[in-house]
Amino acid sequence: MKIGIIGTGAIGSILARKFSSAGHQVKVTNTRDMATLRDIAADLGAEAARLEDVVKEVEVIIFSIPFNAYKDLPKNLLQDVPQEVIIMDTSNYYPFRDGELSGLEGKTESEYISETLGRPVIKVFNNIMEYTLKHKGKAAGEDGRIAISVAGDNDAHKKIAAELVDQTGFNTVDGGSLAESWRQEPGTPAYCTELNVAELNQALAAAEKGKAPAVWDAIMDKIQHFKTFPSNEELVNINRSAAAGNLK
Ligand SMILES: NC(=O)c1ccc[n+]([C@@H]2O[C@H](COP(=O)([O-])OP(=O)(O)OC[C@H]3O[C@@H](n4cnc5c(N)ncnc54)[C@H](OP(=O)(O)O)[C@@H]3O)[C@@H](O)[C@H]2O)c1
Repeated sequence: MKIGIIGTGAIGSILARKFSSAGHQVKVTNTRDMATLRDIAADLGAEAARLEDVVKEVEVIIFSIPFNAYKDLPKNLLQDVPQEVIIMDTSNYYPFRDGELSGLEGKTESEYISETLGRPVIKVFNNIMEYTLKHKGKAAGEDGRIAISVAGDNDAHKKIAAELVDQTGFNTVDGGSLAESWRQEPGTPAYCTELNVAELNQALAAAEKGKAPAVWDAIMDKIQHFKTFPSNEELVNINRSAAAGNLK
């Protein structure tokens, strides 16, 4: 497929590398000058493109930028992008990083992003940590394969998103509609807890509306008490314990 990726940070760069290795034609962009971007893109096996070009003549566009950066994107960015192009969004809202954002109140994160971009999105790759995405992928059918939640309102787009996730080494579960996608936001049992399909389905069902912000605060508080930033294993344990209500 032809894939445009906006953001070559932790997540965008892993996705670009994995999709180009899988044989897709990948274009990437970030905020750097063209010469720097070209070097980054070449290292990822991708083509460098300016923001306005990364969305042209592709079948999939993946946004992987900080949550508070979407509001500053050009308002007409997706204006000429055909409706059949799948728009995927990996973002999470972290209040400590992203600040207060007007228009987010009462909405799921992905409903806000969808409104900001003026297009429906598929929320995916948000409930997996960088380390997990990079190092813990497995071949389809292998025991202990971790699952990622895919939420959105377009079933055909979700199906292709799930196929792409599979190529990165992970299973998927249906996270429901964009309105339901709060179930995979930070602080929920489904968020970065490295679960298999059955466990992730259970975690999505077990999420309680309104509970996530307090759980997320507890996670942040716990992390701040570590002398050095916790390892992937420690983070998974913290997330699991916090979601289960027994974080010590
Ligand atoms: N890190 C994780 O473990 C993780 C896991 C799941 C989901 N997420 C979410 O996924 C998103 C990306 O996370 P990340 O950790 O990859 O972030 P990151 O490492 O900070 O990278 C962000 C990327 O976005 C680019 N960018 C920012 N504003 C842009 C703009 N206006 N136009 C084009 N590119 C722009 C940055 O460009 P420059 O390189 O030029 O600065 C950078 O390449 C975030 O919303 C995050 O919450 C992160």
